Amino acid sequence: MKVKIIDYDHQGRGIAKINNKIVFIPKVKLNEEVSIDIVNSKKNYSLGKRCNPLKVKYCPYYNECGGCQIGHLTYNEQLEFKKNTIKNIFSKYTNYNLENLDILKTKQYNYRNKVTFHIKKDKIGYYEERSNNLISIDKCNLLDSNIINLTASLNSFIKVHKKLTKAIIKSLDGKIMLILEGKEDKESIKEFFSFLVSSLYYNNELISGVPALMIEVLSKKFMVRKDSFFQVNKEGISLIYKEVIDLVKELNSNIIYDLYCGTGTISLLVSDYAKKVIGIEVIEDGVMDAKSNAKLNNITNTEFYLGDVSKVINKLKYVPDTIILDPPRSGISKDLIDFLLSLKVKNIIYISCNPLTLARDINLLDSEYKLKSIKLVDEFPNTYHLESITLLKLRKKAYNN
Ligand SMILES: C[S@@+](CC[C@H](N)C(=O)[O-])C[C@H]1O[C@@H](n2cnc3c(N)ncnc32)[C@H](O)[C@@H]1O
Repeated sequence: MKVKIIDYDHQGRGIAKINNKIVFIPKVKLNEEVSIDIVNSKKNYSLGKRCNPLKVKYCPYYNECGGCQIGHLTYNEQLEFKKNTIKNIFSKYTNYNLENLDILKTKQYNYRNKVTFHIKKDKIGYYEERSNNLISIDKCNLLDSNIINLTASLNSFIKVHKKLTKAIIKSLDGKIMLILEGKEDKESIKEFFSFLVSSLYYNNELISGVPALMIEVLSKKFMVRKDSFFQVNKEGISLIYKEVIDLVKELNSNIIYDLYCGTGTISLLVSDYAKKVIGIEVIEDGVMDAKSNAKLNNITNTEFYLGDVSKVINKLKYVPDTIILDPPRSGISKDLIDFLLSLKVKNIIYISCNPLTLARDINLLDSEYKLKSIKLVDEFPNTYHLESITLLKLRKKAYNN
């Protein structure tokens, strides 16, 4: 049947209506009239699939693969989609109307410095959207060129050695870490890959090279161990971190908390502009990296604590004037919201990778904190993902300044 696309949802799927029932259809364009099949019908909505698959220049797997959702839109259309999405989410879930939004661009392809591939016998690739069907990938043009080259080598290795199950590749400043899992013979892995990569792990054991990689961002060096989180687009994170530094410079803070600090990147980058910065992170490798990174950069005014933010924060003895939040997609916990409401810190800088949880959390904090500014960064072109940096300020009734 033929439908007209009347809107997008926040994940970039098209929305159409059939007899007043909403249908979500991936990989279509606004106002397009498109023939679809209904693939799943629920009580309140249906899922549709376009009949004639799209062709995009940069990827032959575009229709099946779940990695990109909006790569068929022009880059300007993608940016408009992202601005409209966050605008709509804020007008629906908060008291704020976002006007004159600006979005910082990054390069559209070859930006990802990390990938996780699944492997089944001699097939390596990504899972099809919302399924367990593995799509073989020879080349993904969102990945940086070092990862693309290593993918070719992995593809030739698994044609002969068919017992690998997973490969994670990190490529930082020209060096590669390869993390493999499976039931393959360790020696054959070592022999094949140790000359191709700087760091080689197999089933959690370092079998060749160095244990961690190094990356330089905004003139500071960061060590990244196997399990530490590091943002996947260097150009994108540099833009985000620059925004955060600019905000911190204006805020004149004594004590800053960097919550969800990962490898301590933000703590170390803002440490020049505060007396003390305290980071909290739940992954042990992250905290170890953060401490090593402070030493590596000769920074002496940072402290890092391991654990769940909402549990550790109660135990700290400092009184922060600025709190930086950079949580995962799920946003911040109710416990932390309650803590922030009672703490009445002067400034909160919230870096978010999910406008829905950002809007929810801003709303929950609204009785004490007012939204002052928001900046958007397109860190993940061709996908619906959107990064934002917001500044929240304590309302005057609670703090006279
Ligand atoms: C979006 S990343 C931000 C990392 C870091 N700020 C950066 O720029 O690289 C979120 C981080 O929060 C950590 N995390 C997730 N849940 C946590 C929790 N409950 N308590 C502390 N850290 C947590 C993750 O391990 C991850 O390192």
